[in-house]
Amino acid sequence: MRDATRQTVVWEALRAVLARRSAAAGRDTLDIVDAGGGTGGFAVPLARLGHAVTVVDPTPDSLAALERRAAENGVGVKGLQGDVADLGDLLEPGGADLVLCHSVLEYVDEPAGALSAVRGVLREGGAVSVLAANSVAAAVHRALAGQFEEARRLLAEPPGRWFSRESLAGLLAAAGFTVTEVHGVRIFSELVPGMTAESDPEALIALERAAAGHPVLRDIAVQLHVIAHR
Ligand SMILES: C[S@@+](CC[C@H](N)C(=O)[O-])C[C@H]1O[C@@H](n2cnc3c(N)ncnc32)[C@H](O)[C@@H]1O
Repeated sequence: MRDATRQTVVWEALRAVLARRSAAAGRDTLDIVDAGGGTGGFAVPLARLGHAVTVVDPTPDSLAALERRAAENGVGVKGLQGDVADLGDLLEPGGADLVLCHSVLEYVDEPAGALSAVRGVLREGGAVSVLAANSVAAAVHRALAGQFEEARRLLAEPPGRWFSRESLAGLLAAAGFTVTEVHGVRIFSELVPGMTAESDPEALIALERAAAGHPVLRDIAVQLHVIAHR
């Protein structure tokens, strides 16, 4: 259920970004880099849509699984072992139409440096899709579990692996990006008990889609999805 919600909201935004970029570039095949793309959960479906996709990930096991998944789906995805901060050493500058950075900033030592490296490999007008864990949601969920002190700490001083809409937008702006869209991913699906979520999954997904762009509700989503342009 949680994954279905994430997939729906993120893919809807990605499909719109891809369509706009294809129209602007006058090409159906876009050059896409999935930084920290892991086993290809996004990269392989993007390759199946006909795009040229490169995954950069530090974990050899993930890259091996990516290769298997791509082969099973009858597509080619280039896998490169490396760190998002080193994209500039691994790829030609200004060669990508879209870079995904999904659930990765939580693991990097310097998110600002990572985003700067992402910008370096994007073409002018290219986009980055960032998915990151929301400290505000983490505080809400800790509080609902009775962990009030931890919730207070998360609000007052979120550790490095947590972000808020403001901090994420600030990092992107500092790296030279213009933020164009912010969506909330998994708003209600994590707040309602599992059995309630399963009682009418389709209606819940429709609710999540409607709430994703809501100016208040998106800020309490488990993950923030930001689209920004170079
Ligand atoms: C939670 S998984 C997300 C995978 C994929 N992006 C997705 O959304 O399904 C985190 C991924 O980030 C990768 N990773 C961790 N540190 C990284 C770094 N410094 N640079 C690039 N990727 C990194 C991990 O190997 C792992 O594949």
